[in-house]
Amino acid sequence: MTEPSETGLSRGLTSYGDKDFSNYLRMSFARSMGHSNEMLARPVVGIATTYSEFNNCHRLVPELVAAVKRGVISAGGLPLEFPTISLGEVFLNPTSLFFRNLMAMDTEEMVRGQPMDAVVLIGGCDKTVPAQLMGAVSANVPAVQLVTGPMMTGRWRGEKLGACTDCRRFWARYRGGEFDKDTINEIEGRLATTAGTCAVMGTASTMASLAEALGMMLPGTAAIPAVHADRIRAAEASGVAAMQLVKSRITPTDIITPKSIDNALRVLLAISGSTNAILHLTAIAGRAGIKVDLHHLNELSDTTPVLVDLKPTGAYYMEDLFAAGGIGAVLRELKPLLHLDCLTVTGTTLGERLNDDVPPYVDHNVVHALETPLQPVGGLVALFGSLAPNGAIFKRAAADPGLFESEGRAIVFTSIEDMAERVDDPDLDVLPNDILVLQNAGPTSSSRMPEAGYLPIPSKLARQGVKDMLRISDARMSGTAYGTIVLHVSPDSASGGPLSLVRNHDRIRLSIRDRRIDLLVDDAELARRRAAMPPPAALPERGYARLYKQEVLQAEHGCDFKFLTRLPREA
Ligand code: FES
Ligand code: MG
Repeated sequence: MTEPSETGLSRGLTSYGDKDFSNYLRMSFARSMGHSNEMLARPVVGIATTYSEFNNCHRLVPELVAAVKRGVISAGGLPLEFPTISLGEVFLNPTSLFFRNLMAMDTEEMVRGQPMDAVVLIGGCDKTVPAQLMGAVSANVPAVQLVTGPMMTGRWRGEKLGACTDCRRFWARYRGGEFDKDTINEIEGRLATTAGTCAVMGTASTMASLAEALGMMLPGTAAIPAVHADRIRAAEASGVAAMQLVKSRITPTDIITPKSIDNALRVLLAISGSTNAILHLTAIAGRAGIKVDLHHLNELSDTTPVLVDLKPTGAYYMEDLFAAGGIGAVLRELKPLLHLDCLTVTGTTLGERLNDDVPPYVDHNVVHALETPLQPVGGLVALFGSLAPNGAIFKRAAADPGLFESEGRAIVFTSIEDMAERVDDPDLDVLPNDILVLQNAGPTSSSRMPEAGYLPIPSKLARQGVKDMLRISDARMSGTAYGTIVLHVSPDSASGGPLSLVRNHDRIRLSIRDRRIDLLVDDAELARRRAAMPPPAALPERGYARLYKQEVLQAEHGCDFKFLTRLPREA
């Protein structure tokens, strides 16, 4: 009979008074897995697999799982893969963010509920890595993050194309009347041509970069393309690293600390990463009881230059970042700004990592030197003001500086449906210097904060050649999108935030210099409008939608659930 132990398959055994019997029962079922007794006695490394045919970005997860298993076995462990929910960005309705917390719960409970000494989390597409990290912090079992890696670019008539910044660029040209249907069809077939996550610095690549910056992922692995053989080697090494964690007992809360969160924010700013990453990092930090303060984000933004020249704000793709030295090259440039004593999954500190693994080559066209940055300040800022008392996010690196200090007339869409119905109406009363406002697209709305913040330029203006306008909403924006766009306005409009009180032709003022977004309407008028507002919508009758509506927090709390975050909150 196998003796019960504190590791391996006997771990966490529930017994009803006779522990030996419980272990005997469990091990007799374990025998049916077909492993040898020697294997069954080993420490267990769980592998959270997110393969799904609804998730194109995760198509190669099975070969990563196989490689992780090789690593675990070679290091003396028993690898056991288990499924969790998978969130494929473009196949989920109403929006993948709605399901992120569900996946985080699934990951947390399965990591905690099953006997594993460490876990390798395989994610990739936008919401999967944040969900896995949130779950891992809460379960606090030793964990290594592995990502599926970015797609390679495609080619169309000699031009490089990468999902999905170029999807938007070409669609805007199609809407402007530059291409016919056959041409846009041809382009559609060239945009996403391999397995892997979006080829630019979208949300998936940003979260992979931040996982590496946090120390939750092996050094040098964030940017390896999905189809590159190094990706398989990274998976094998992640299995070995998980076995080292079994010995060192370093857990996610040893790694995710206020200092490592600061490092991740610095990297986010230097790579001009996705606005969504602010939500996700806030939610991950919140699981460890750490607050990401948006005023602090602004302090970091003012002292962190943009170094990485990737689309959607720059010129290159993830495959170029990989060839240019990857996130290691970025971390090395940022070294004077980073907390170097942060622990990583390898058991060494960030500082030790940067001393040890000096890359043979760094392409400074892609990763600029700290002394010669692309932009002197960070890519993202938080705004406050009467329209967003609790904050809003603005990606200045992706916006038109000509609109940074501007005032204009609001053209209001009261919901996504209203916008879809009217934005292309030839009779829409809209001028190029107006401000497009979208309401009821925030976390507590029935649309649940989709990536609708990239409001289309009304087609009558697009046809006149208008490429950008100031757009404001409580929605999110795809990490692959760009434009002069204010997002995550909080409190959101469905919860009665000031955004809900904006009416057509109100004046709004944006000042990036002052970090403000203000609604220029007097208080008495706002009070009158507030009194006339309809009562809030009823709770959904049942199921996850009801739980979501009852529990979801505003954007500045990362849209986590009240009962999952460990952040102390005001009332
Ligand atoms: Fe999966 Fe973009 S759709 S990363
Ligand atoms: Mg995306």
